[in-house]
Amino acid sequence: MMFPKILKWTGIVLLGLTVLLLIVFGIFFYVYGTHVNKQYAVDVRPIAIPHDSASIAAGAHLYAIKGCGDCHGADLGGKVFLNDPAIGLLAGANLTGGQGGRPAGYTDQDWLKALRHGLGTDNKTLKLMPSYESAKLSDKDVAALIAFCKAQPVVNRTLPPMKTGPVGKVLAVLGKLPLFPAEMIDHSYQQPGTVPVAVTKEYGEYLSVSCTGCHNPKFTGGDSPIPGGKKVADITSKGHLGKWTAQEFITALRTGSTPEGLKLENKDMPWSMTAQYSDEELQALFLYLKSL
Ligand code: HEC
Ligand code: HEC
Repeated sequence: MMFPKILKWTGIVLLGLTVLLLIVFGIFFYVYGTHVNKQYAVDVRPIAIPHDSASIAAGAHLYAIKGCGDCHGADLGGKVFLNDPAIGLLAGANLTGGQGGRPAGYTDQDWLKALRHGLGTDNKTLKLMPSYESAKLSDKDVAALIAFCKAQPVVNRTLPPMKTGPVGKVLAVLGKLPLFPAEMIDHSYQQPGTVPVAVTKEYGEYLSVSCTGCHNPKFTGGDSPIPGGKKVADITSKGHLGKWTAQEFITALRTGSTPEGLKLENKDMPWSMTAQYSDEELQALFLYLKSL
């Protein structure tokens, strides 16, 4: 007669836990919904987008060193960069005017709204697009980047719609996955017109924005922003970098081999992106990081 009683209690406990879990998930799903459905009213400051070949070439360089191709593809036609049932299906949009690409009538203001405010044409946050980084680009640089993107040949590629899985939703709500860029941006920030290109700490600081997503805004590293990713190194003078020469830094970021003999893997530390920085840019970055 003992058995059925235990079974009954086990059943009640299991049922209770299931209900509790459903309630917790329900709360996360609800909160997630409030983040993605929030509508923003921002003033997009208009700037002129050039058409000349020098600006387009400068934009191509920015597209490479800012890692846009890692998510949007080298052909700008978009690609799925993560497909995991728990985290979600994450795909960088097709940025060309081809089938499955930018909506018809996508204006220069829409480009600026995406790159500087992290918003889509519906005024809701774009998902996972690192606009908190492109929002810091000078007028000249963002204009060159847009000029380059607009000048590329069309690609007809329709990507599957983005989906966020249950773990992705929980991580996003807890702030462990930067899924809501519009929330991370100071929408009243006034970008500089240009930033002088030179081997200076100031120019290095401007470039280092691209490193903050993983190395964190203080460059002290820590946990990876990529779920399950490798621990991120300290790249202030307190880390290995403090003992490196400028040339060793350049070699590490161009070849993935550090003076300590560490082989950087592109999937952890995207050195195929840093390999495309010019000497001047890497020297400026080094000056800045070494000063920290
Ligand atoms: C970490 C991956 C990632 C990187 C790096 C990235 N993007 Fe995106 N981007 C996305 C995703 C994902 C979307 C789609 C977001 C959505 O639909 O909610 C997107 C959307 C966009 C959009 C809006 C397109 C539309 O149809 O609304 C533009 C414009 C854009 N990205 C340009 C760029 C440029 C230029 C760069 C480089 C400075 C860049 N992105 C870097 C992931 C990325
Ligand atoms: C996508 C995430 C990511 C981005 C973006 C990124 N890093 Fe890293 N970086 C890492 C990780 C993770 C490691 C540690 C790799 C390891 O231990 O194998 C690392 C290691 C390094 C190292 C080696 C440090 C050492 O002590 O050996 C340097 C130098 C470095 N990063 C510089 C940069 C610079 C400069 C930028 C920006 C231009 C940058 N990283 C952008 C993730 C990133």
